[in-house]
Amino acid sequence: MPRINPLLDQLAEYPMVELERRKQAVAARGLPLYDFSVGDPVEPTPDFIQEALREAIQPRCGYPSIAGSDGLRAAIAAYVARRFGVELDPATQILPTAGAKEAVFHTPALVVDPSADDRVVIFPDPGYPAYQRGVLFAGGEPVAVPLSGDHVFRPWLLPPDLLRRTRMIWLNTPHNPSGAVTPLADLRRTLDLAREHDIVLVSDEAYADIYQGEPPPSLLQAGVEGVLVLHSLSKRSAMTGYRSGFLAGDPALIGRLRKLRANPGLAAPDFVNAAAQAAWSDDAHVAERRALFQAKRELLVDFFEGAGLEVHGSRATIYLWVRVPGGEDDEAWARRLLERGVVVSPGRMFGVAGGGQGYVRLALVPSLEEIRSAIEVMRPLVG
Ligand SMILES: Cc1ncc(COP(=O)(O)O)c(C=O)c1O
Repeated sequence: MPRINPLLDQLAEYPMVELERRKQAVAARGLPLYDFSVGDPVEPTPDFIQEALREAIQPRCGYPSIAGSDGLRAAIAAYVARRFGVELDPATQILPTAGAKEAVFHTPALVVDPSADDRVVIFPDPGYPAYQRGVLFAGGEPVAVPLSGDHVFRPWLLPPDLLRRTRMIWLNTPHNPSGAVTPLADLRRTLDLAREHDIVLVSDEAYADIYQGEPPPSLLQAGVEGVLVLHSLSKRSAMTGYRSGFLAGDPALIGRLRKLRANPGLAAPDFVNAAAQAAWSDDAHVAERRALFQAKRELLVDFFEGAGLEVHGSRATIYLWVRVPGGEDDEAWARRLLERGVVVSPGRMFGVAGGGQGYVRLALVPSLEEIRSAIEVMRPLVG
């Protein structure tokens, strides 16, 4: 028998895999499916981005560099300056990634020493499942901190004992699954705390550009020393399949990450980087996407709130975070919706320490037309 890493069997299946199975079972009954589960929007990637990718495919495509191209890093620096008013040095403070997920998974290895007592990495619960997984596979001690109410993560409320054993804190703003946005004052306060305890503070800002009203701030606006931020083109530019994002921040950390990531050779292909350069250089297509998600969000918020349900957070991201009516179990309510062909994610799927219970997450993926039909299907269940 091969001796396998026990983590692989101990961890529950990645939540989206389980949802996919349930969906197939309902689809097999011939019911129309309204799929609000996986956050993979169906709108096409803008033409100019597709074109940039095609043009960059050469007869021979060699190994890409870990650092990415100068052009891509310059385009990212220009984006960060436009969007957040922060000047970064493209040579030392920016590192392209092959999507944000691999970066979430691999970044704990920057700080974790599996044999040390202080090997804790903290992250919000409910949250994006890869935070916990990355820490576990790096040999760190994951600590999931429950969120409730407004779902804003406030690490200064954590016990000093825990902070002393902590090497990294993940923030996620705007937050998946709740869509809550952390105000700049809270980011500043958390950074002060992190510096006091010599903790690397990483902010996952994969949804920074999909919002309603005021643009969400970046941790970079609070400072750069001891800071990393993570961004993605997946939702901003309809590029989930391209696998493209970036890490940015403290040059000392970025330099070490470049060294770390050279070991597995983590880099996006040059033709993807060319498409990414085009995408980060343009904001007009992002404004169109914001308007689209806003229209979808409004339809559903009007419906749920009109029926007396509470929609929490949900100011940004491509998700709605809805409190299950009548105190019903989120898993049970999601199954009842699924029986009728409406697929939502039970909140507990995003929790590792009990987080997310009592909520469901709807990804704003179906078209406006489909959302109208789905509302009619849901109406008898929320009345
Ligand atoms: C909070 C958060 N971080 C990171 C990612 C990963 O994004 P990417 O598609 O760039 O890998 C996601 C994807 O859904 C996410 O929700």
